Amino acid sequence: MNDPFVPTYARYPDTLVRGEGHRLQDSEGRWYLDACGGIAVMALGHGHPAVKAAVHAQVEALMHVSNLWNVPVQRAFAERLVEVYQAAGVFLANSGAEANEAAAKLARKAGFRKGELDRNEILTLEHAFHGRTLFTLSMTPKPAYQEGYGPLVPQVRSLPADAVAAAVSARTAAVFVEPVQGESGCHVVPQDVLVALRAACDRHGALLVYDEIQCGLGRTGELIHQPRPDLITLAKALGGGLPLSALVVVNPDLYATFQPGDHGSTFGGNPVSCAAGLATLDRIVGDDLPARCARQGARLRQGLEASGAAVTGLGLIQAAHLGRPAGPVVAAMRDRGVLVCPAGKDAVRFLPPFTITDNEIDEICATFADALAATA
Ligand SMILES: Cc1ncc(COP(=O)(O)O)c(C=O)c1O
Repeated sequence: MNDPFVPTYARYPDTLVRGEGHRLQDSEGRWYLDACGGIAVMALGHGHPAVKAAVHAQVEALMHVSNLWNVPVQRAFAERLVEVYQAAGVFLANSGAEANEAAAKLARKAGFRKGELDRNEILTLEHAFHGRTLFTLSMTPKPAYQEGYGPLVPQVRSLPADAVAAAVSARTAAVFVEPVQGESGCHVVPQDVLVALRAACDRHGALLVYDEIQCGLGRTGELIHQPRPDLITLAKALGGGLPLSALVVVNPDLYATFQPGDHGSTFGGNPVSCAAGLATLDRIVGDDLPARCARQGARLRQGLEASGAAVTGLGLIQAAHLGRPAGPVVAAMRDRGVLVCPAGKDAVRFLPPFTITDNEIDEICATFADALAATA
């Protein structure tokens, strides 16, 4: 019999059956330290008691109603997001790509509302990753991902980071930027580039959008990235392990750009996901986990650099660039009990939970060193 899945994923051989705290167990009973976290999702680790309790309670109370009705937990979650991000409002969805899709649509609609019918260009940076839907794929300038899906969405261009500000014009609806570019290797977009983009967007009436889907919620060491954008997109860690994403409207002038019927989602802001998200956000803010990410990130960087690797990233989103294929090192780390994922072809990416301990970081770094030596 064929594998039941169409072959979109080259899966690792292991079958994972259980998650507890920072560890995962496979079907053979072997435990692994999880420094991948479902690719930046499990900020509090697996099975966090507060998240589980909130999910169980919400499953008992109400699992789904249409967004035509109010649900208390969804409203509470949205209010908390607005408060934490000092925003005007949010649109809730299910995945990162959907949040970016909503942001791109809102940016075009904002131009339309002002009567600027030519303002439809979306600019992104070289090496960006914004998702796999047709619009967000068009914003992800990786030929291997785009090949065969044309024609892509028009009026979308990607440029080197230091060339984007000069390209902003009266036709630009929005500039999308990941403060730390996750998929391509945890490259930090320099602060002066963000400042130049903010100034260019202000000068030409374009929106600045931070895609914080992978690097957000404090993983970089900062919950709020400066200068402030007009829109932020969040997903991954937002739902504490359940599908949940948000378009955060920071600029109050954009609050009413979407009017009833302009955009929507059946499952967006699902009550069970919102319960998990609220419990997760409470811990991230209540326990000041962004500061912890900064501290633990410094230890991680030092430990990885001790192996001689070139390390990029911030806080707990870091990549070690090997100058050779990362696959064998990722596999050797797995054999030694630590799960990580690659970034691009030649970098190993580290996305541990925000609650990772000193000892666990040392375990990750020692295993990395060992795996490097074993695959040299
Ligand atoms: C920066 C960034 N944007 C968007 C996405 C797309 O998110 P999703 O896979 O939830 O659609 C990702 C996923 O890796 C991402 O890292």
